[in-house]
Amino acid sequence: MNGQNLIGGPTGGEACEVVSSVYESAPAAEPTSARLADLTTLHVGGPARRLVMARTEEELVATVRDADARGEPVLLLGAGSNVVVSDEGFDGVVVVVGTRGLRAEVSDCAGAFLTVAAGEPWDRVVIHTLSQEWIGLETLSGIPGATGATPIQNVGAYGSDVSSTIARVRTWDRMAGKIVTYAASDCGFGYRSSRFKEEPGRYVVIDVSFQLELGPLSVPIRYAELAAALGVEVGQRAPLARVRDAVLALRRSKGMVLDAGDHDTWSAGSFFTNPLLSAEGAATLPDGAPRYAQPDGTVKTSAAWLIDHAGFGKGYGSGPARLSAKHTLAITNRGAATAKDVLDLARTVREGVRERFGVTLVPEPVLVGCRL
Ligand code: EPU
Repeated sequence: MNGQNLIGGPTGGEACEVVSSVYESAPAAEPTSARLADLTTLHVGGPARRLVMARTEEELVATVRDADARGEPVLLLGAGSNVVVSDEGFDGVVVVVGTRGLRAEVSDCAGAFLTVAAGEPWDRVVIHTLSQEWIGLETLSGIPGATGATPIQNVGAYGSDVSSTIARVRTWDRMAGKIVTYAASDCGFGYRSSRFKEEPGRYVVIDVSFQLELGPLSVPIRYAELAAALGVEVGQRAPLARVRDAVLALRRSKGMVLDAGDHDTWSAGSFFTNPLLSAEGAATLPDGAPRYAQPDGTVKTSAAWLIDHAGFGKGYGSGPARLSAKHTLAITNRGAATAKDVLDLARTVREGVRERFGVTLVPEPVLVGCRL
């Protein structure tokens, strides 16, 4: 469906054509099981007491509102790619966010403004934007998960995060009992954080709007490893499709592209965030440790490096949960792991890093019914 209209210039100058379009990916598959192990990419977790597939905004809001009115615990699940659910499961309603649809308004004067339903799979959104030559999401290719999850932890990779393109986030505020829309500047975005993450469970993301530029070339490439893979200098641009291909190849080499047949990818992505240290704290790390100065004076180091250098190399572990053979930051389920196996390994790694470097790693996935 396409529509067109014209915006007059402010002083009666050149009119700017606005083209509206709608894109929707295939409907969400009906869940065949209420076991969270079957609904999450780490493949651990016991049963949900009740499971609801919400395919419309109305169903999503009504299910959460009604459960809240009854005092029934609610777990919202997108693609299940960033959660660790306990082996006891979830004693409440698990709401699978199965909403779909992307509406766009595009013009030469204002770029592309798109609004995406929370349940729309993120990578399909990325693919669609690149096919339209809309710029800004290309380095975020191949990330599993639903679009509605992206603002919650300000998803990022290879030099960009969604905070640089999000225009607004529309939510159901469970505390206020009403729909509340946040402009990007009110979302409290930081490294893997936002106001939505700061108050876990308060907000149900309904849809996310992005503002993108138009053109065939990517944003300037800021991540050195990606620039090297593309054969460009840091700060240069490259064709969108080449950037996507290069990001996917890098992610694959690190085991970060989901493949149902490969246990090395049965994970929740990075299990720990990269620590932000004070300048003094960072000075105590060994010479070889990565250090990335942040605008606020803190120094980000690499959790993967700390883990590796605390004696937990790639593939560490001998049980059903092991570190990925390709990247120390992913904890993987070799097929029969329980949540307990995953958490035991995470604790071993966290304690080992604390003993060796004095840094306490913070888990990145949402832990449901369990803790480290
Ligand atoms: N490293 C090791 N051992 C390993 C892997 C990496 O020592 O097994 C070292 C590398 O040599 C490098 C450093 O760790 O010096 C950083 O590794 P990498 O470039 O792979 O990135 P990362 O910091 O581990 C972050 C994000 C990823 C994102 C990549 C690329 C976090 C927690 N992780 O990983 O995001 O894709 O950068 O931008 O911010 C995610 O958040 O789930 C995620 C996958």
